Amino acid sequence: MSTISIIGAGDMATAAAARIAKAGHTVEILSRDPAKARALADKLSAGAITGTYATAPTGDIVILAVPYGSAAAVVADYGDALDGKVIIDITNPVAPDLSGLVTPHGSSGAQEIAKGLPATAHVVKAFNAVFGHVLAKNGRLDAFIAADDAEAKARVSTFIESLGLRPLDVGGLHMASTLEALGLIADLRMSDSFAGRLAGTGRVRKCGVVRRRS
Ligand SMILES: NC(=O)c1ccc[n+]([C@@H]2O[C@H](COP(=O)([O-])OP(=O)(O)OC[C@H]3O[C@@H](n4cnc5c(N)ncnc54)[C@H](OP(=O)(O)O)[C@@H]3O)[C@@H](O)[C@H]2O)c1
Repeated sequence: MSTISIIGAGDMATAAAARIAKAGHTVEILSRDPAKARALADKLSAGAITGTYATAPTGDIVILAVPYGSAAAVVADYGDALDGKVIIDITNPVAPDLSGLVTPHGSSGAQEIAKGLPATAHVVKAFNAVFGHVLAKNGRLDAFIAADDAEAKARVSTFIESLGLRPLDVGGLHMASTLEALGLIADLRMSDSFAGRLAGTGRVRKCGVVRRRS
């Protein structure tokens, strides 16, 4: 078992932290708001810890659980403190109106985030297409991963397996854009506007599942 650091203390950090703690890892919560980090750590059953935002995380694996729009700033805040770390990028770089992705053509959120990291850090795209409330249910879900560094990918695969999930390697970091598109579709599927559009086609969405109207 190891220490896994999470930057962020929002919904996804909460869901991931609960599952990681349940698997027996030590979770370190890092938030720009120390009170929020402490509150989340206190909610976890196993001995979770908090760290100081923008200083070196304890874990070798660091989950970046902040909005994509804040990721570059957060990575800049940490700078060399992320030297040698495996960064799991869970962000979905989607436009607020879910009209598409906000990343430059031919790139991905993960590749853009990697540009701001120290050269010794390695980005692995994972968990972006899994909803927090689904992750929290402890089912054996498929977890797609994309990364260029073989060792970082292997470490994240082992970590994902330790959570009771099935890691599915989809290729190099260039495949992150495909996973991010999947995240967009997942977000769209949960949105009210999508339900409205489906209603016009004779289908209705119920509990997140598309069913044909009888
Ligand atoms: N929620 C899901 O089901 C889900 C599923 C898959 C992927 N994701 C991805 O996971 C990431 C987090 O989503 P979420 O739902 O957990 O969001 P959230 O509940 O809004 O939490 C975001 C966290 O990021 C922190 N943050 C925001 N801007 C920051 C900044 N400039 N510097 C430092 N910290 C900052 C927030 O801190 P404060 O509380 O101090 O504002 C908060 O702790 C997103 O990229 C999202 O696309 C989410």
